Amino acid sequence: MKTLLLLGGGFLQCFVIKKAKELGYRVMVLDADPNAMGFQMADNYAVINIVNEEACLKYAQEHKVDGVLTAATDFSVLTMSRIAEEMHLPGINYKAAKRIKNKADVRKCLFDAKADDTGYSFEIDSLDQIPQILPRVKFPVMMKPCDGSGSRGASRVDEASDFEKACVFAMSGSITHRAVAEPFVEGKEYGVESFVDHGEIHILGIMQKDMTLPPYYAELGHAIPSGLSPKQEERISSCVRKALLALEVNHGSVNMDLLIGDNGDVHIVDIGARMGGNLIGSHVIPIGTGVDYMGNMIRAAVGDPTDFMSHGQHQPVATKLLALTPGKVKALPDFKTIEEEYKVKIEHHLHVGDAINEYHTNLDGCGYVVATDLDVKCAIERAAMVKKTIDELIVRE
Ligand SMILES: Nc1ncnc2c1ncn2[C@@H]1O[C@H](COP(=O)(O)OP(=O)(O)O)[C@@H](O)[C@H]1O
Ligand SMILES: [Mg+2]
Repeated sequence: MKTLLLLGGGFLQCFVIKKAKELGYRVMVLDADPNAMGFQMADNYAVINIVNEEACLKYAQEHKVDGVLTAATDFSVLTMSRIAEEMHLPGINYKAAKRIKNKADVRKCLFDAKADDTGYSFEIDSLDQIPQILPRVKFPVMMKPCDGSGSRGASRVDEASDFEKACVFAMSGSITHRAVAEPFVEGKEYGVESFVDHGEIHILGIMQKDMTLPPYYAELGHAIPSGLSPKQEERISSCVRKALLALEVNHGSVNMDLLIGDNGDVHIVDIGARMGGNLIGSHVIPIGTGVDYMGNMIRAAVGDPTDFMSHGQHQPVATKLLALTPGKVKALPDFKTIEEEYKVKIEHHLHVGDAINEYHTNLDGCGYVVATDLDVKCAIERAAMVKKTIDELIVRE
């Protein structure tokens, strides 16, 4: 029996743990949170911070794991890569993982490789650089932390007088106090999930995305099919392939956020060298494409044979994040009844007594509604309607 080490044992990682157990693997889970829900399902676990490369590597070596994975979080991508490299397990090489962690480095690499249509970007690690940079900046720009996640610290800047303030905001959201200013793209947002299997690139799915309104840029849902023409999808796939080659991604899951300009231009705005969050890996890709994504991602991690072709049935699918009205939960509706009545799946982590925050980043989400239908628009509408119903049925203090 092979052993998989999973870095992170939160709500979204539980889907990976469950799948790996179903496939007959032993699963070991690390998480800094002693109450991580994934611990209950694991064969073995330890309370270790998943950004601590040394401590996680020591645990992996002691337990002689056969594979290492992280999913739906950027925090442990470097740790995953480090363990894979040190222990000669399948995984993304450390150099590529490190570069992908820095949005400014990624932008520079993609710009040099002409992987997409995004113009020149600036990396800022000190406010002293601003006077030299400003004359070269074409507004509007998007200012973001170089190593941010969950859309924190990102803002649009329309004029030079707001540049420094946005820069301070972005740096405050960056562990390394660095910001990147890139051309602001007017357009619609899409997600692309890929898996590189020992150098062989599989573009698994292109998803349309629902986002909050500015000034927040948080995800509200995903759907397949994308609604784009085959020609547009082909062009996106070609950009994604070029990007993966330029970034020298040799192995593993890659989740990208893209903006498609009103004129069809392709802009890769964000890359994570791990399976996407927000039920992308566990629900959206398998239901929408028929590819057993998580099963093959797990098999690839432990060096077992993979098959990334579409076999199962697939159908239009849409998710809506439970981005709910703030308040303290006094009573919850009967989710089973709602699931049956509206023929949806609800995956949530709400409890009586929980505080629901105003929805600014996907960390403020309380779960998801998943709907399938013959037509993707109908799936999207039903998921949205059920989300609204849940919001109205929750009793707040
Ligand atoms: N250049 C851009 N132009 C317009 N909007 C952008 C740009 N870059 C990012 N965004 C928006 O901000 C969101 C967060 O940026 P992203 O780079 O994905 O950061 P994070 O790592 O926090 O998810 C994106 O999903 C997108 O909606
Ligand atoms: Mg993003």
